Amino acid sequence: MTPRLRRLHYSIINRLRRWFGGRHAEAIQYVGTDGLSGKLQRDLLKREGALPSSRVLEVGCGSLNAGLVIMRYLDRGNYAGIDPNEWLREAAIQKPAIRKIVDDKAPRFLSRDDFDASELGMQFDYVLSHSVLSHAAHWQLDQYLKNTAKVLAPGGRILASIRLAEGNEFGSDGSKDGEDSMDEEWVYPGVSWFKRSTVDETAARNGLEARLVPEHTAFYTRTKPGEVHDWIVFSKTGQSQDQASR
Ligand SMILES: C[S@@+](CC[C@H](N)C(=O)[O-])C[C@H]1O[C@@H](n2cnc3c(N)ncnc32)[C@H](O)[C@@H]1O
Repeated sequence: MTPRLRRLHYSIINRLRRWFGGRHAEAIQYVGTDGLSGKLQRDLLKREGALPSSRVLEVGCGSLNAGLVIMRYLDRGNYAGIDPNEWLREAAIQKPAIRKIVDDKAPRFLSRDDFDASELGMQFDYVLSHSVLSHAAHWQLDQYLKNTAKVLAPGGRILASIRLAEGNEFGSDGSKDGEDSMDEEWVYPGVSWFKRSTVDETAARNGLEARLVPEHTAFYTRTKPGEVHDWIVFSKTGQSQDQASR
């Protein structure tokens, strides 16, 4: 290769690196979380009993901050992600290390905004969503629970972060008036709020029961003290938590 060609070659490679690296950085900035949060989310799944053989649907998988480490943990074919903003994961998958995990683990992805993964024809032992319901419009809570319950395997669990209007002991003040914020649209980057009773009633309407787990917030905030989300575990009504552990 002549020096001129070599210079051209490196200039093209550097441009591509900047472009793809920049897109990934932009995607991470957009979702506002990071790889450390992803590891904590994976650990919460494990605390709920997830094993490599579990099938996991991540709703709002974004730039794969959690998806990457969850895929790494799970057996091949056991991870699916859904997110309407496809560019977030595409930017992540341009990174060679992430591309390799995607090639090895054969995840399935959907670009939809109705939380409905039923077209995959899979049943999931766990549904995870971090920082999704905390931005959801009021009507989206019902849509989320209806559609995730449809793909939940018997004994399965939905593990979701949310912001409860009542606040919590970890530093969340809750909504201004302690009531549902009743947002009509997705709120981003702001926060939407749901009362505990609204969560319970919406869960019940969809054949689910909701268990608030402050221990998960305690675990998460030990590493990330500012991120004071409440964590709720939903399971199908009548399936005790013992039955749900596999
Ligand atoms: C704050 S980010 C969190 C991303 C990821 N869960 C994490 O912890 O890194 C919110 C994510 O929800 C996605 N989102 C927005 N509307 C959605 C919808 N209707 N269904 C699923 N995901 C949605 C956004 O594209 C974004 O990736």
